[in-house]
Amino acid sequence: MSFLTPDQIEFFKDNGYLSIDRLVDPDEIAWMREAYDRIFSRRAGRDVGDQFDLAGTDEEGEEPKLPQILSPSKYAPELLAGRFRERVLQAAGALLGAEATLGGDHAILKPALTGAETPWHQDEAYWDPDFDYVSFSAWIPLQDVNVENGCMWFIPGSHRMEVVPHHSIGHDPRVHGLEAEGIDDTAAVACPIPAGGATFHLSRTLHYTGPNRSSVPRRAYIIGAGLPSTPRTDGRTFPWNDLKQTAREERSRRSNS
Ligand code: NI
Repeated sequence: MSFLTPDQIEFFKDNGYLSIDRLVDPDEIAWMREAYDRIFSRRAGRDVGDQFDLAGTDEEGEEPKLPQILSPSKYAPELLAGRFRERVLQAAGALLGAEATLGGDHAILKPALTGAETPWHQDEAYWDPDFDYVSFSAWIPLQDVNVENGCMWFIPGSHRMEVVPHHSIGHDPRVHGLEAEGIDDTAAVACPIPAGGATFHLSRTLHYTGPNRSSVPRRAYIIGAGLPSTPRTDGRTFPWNDLKQTAREERSRRSNS
């Protein structure tokens, strides 16, 4: 059984996203935030390319504008024991299908006052173009979020689009983060939610978060879920990923050699 109502499930199918006020219990948010701050402050995973600046060139000694950690549960394994995982799995069963399983996690920190915006993008634009996906990202803020500190924005119905052209932020191939081209965001909807709430969005749903103009860091923990991906045969390409030359990839290559 799912904790989501039929109306919420229908909203997700129509709009490609859903925002709820309660997914994770407050006691869990408290320890998750501790784990989160610990791995960011010790720069966990930086030397192997798992921690990097999503929105900047990520050079040594440069203050990151939008620090990200891939697979934070590798560095804070207690995340793998969180009760929130069962809740996300239940949501995936209701929103995607009974065979859905949990996927990987990542963490995006928007530092107080200086945290950069995350431009409009579709998550699928980062992935292997040879597959089709039925998956969502559950986006879990570890404090209240609003327009001032970088809550999620979505364009309703955009999940029905194909993947649109993207480029590295600022057209700089040294930057990992992608930006969708030619987006009309006049219909965009902001989703302010309390700590412990969550948003869910499909792999093609256009989404955005603004800069953090508040005096507290904006911490977001993200976990994916989906059905098995299926191969495409139409030769789709995502040239924006082939162009990338990031310091993160270089650190990852060095650590594997
Ligand atoms: Ni995204």
